Amino acid sequence: MDIRRALPADLPAVAAIYEREAREGHATFDVEGRPLEAWRERLVSDDHFLVADRDGVVVGYATSGPYRPKPAYGRTRETTVYVAAGHQGLGTGRRLYDALLALLAEDGVHVVVAAVAQPNDASMALHRACGFEVVGTMREVGRKHDRWVDLVWLQRLLG
Ligand SMILES: CC(C)(COP(=O)(O)OP(=O)(O)OC[C@H]1O[C@@H](n2cnc3c(N)ncnc32)[C@H](O)[C@@H]1OP(=O)(O)O)[C@@H](O)C(=O)NCCC(=O)NCCS
Repeated sequence: MDIRRALPADLPAVAAIYEREAREGHATFDVEGRPLEAWRERLVSDDHFLVADRDGVVVGYATSGPYRPKPAYGRTRETTVYVAAGHQGLGTGRRLYDALLALLAEDGVHVVVAAVAQPNDASMALHRACGFEVVGTMREVGRKHDRWVDLVWLQRLLG
């Protein structure tokens, strides 16, 4: 499996992975997918956008974005990672995140943060394995599939 930068041809697969989670899961508080244009914008942004390519099939992606727009947050980035159903639990998330965090460290990013909607044992385990620590829980800030969803914030100091 190859971890590499996302290319325009990868975007439909990335969008499909995200749309499934938006519609059926609770890892994102979106309830439907995003248009390809939104993914294209991410591709040309300053942040990193990696995909996991298994024999020509995109089975996951990881990306970073600004945490908040105010300038003093400039060396903090929020990270996210998704692996397609049927490909989870095989080490793909870990490889994507290790590569993403290495790139962010090279950039001089000081802190990475991530928000994990609960429950999500796989994502909590991944973040902990990658050195993140729990900061705190925002209770019932999301409502999806007829239930309230807690959000756990995690962070890791890179610099
Ligand atoms: C969360 C997610 C990205 C993890 O990726 P993955 O490829 O399934 O995970 P990996 O196989 O790389 O495992 C990473 C770590 O988590 C652990 N893990 C994986 N699945 C687990 C599970 N269901 N329960 C407990 N631990 C689990 C692994 O043992 C591994 O730990 P280690 O490195 O200490 O051995 C993936 O499951 C996913 O995309 N889920 C749906 C979307 C989502 O929740 N995204 C995260 C948004 S915050």
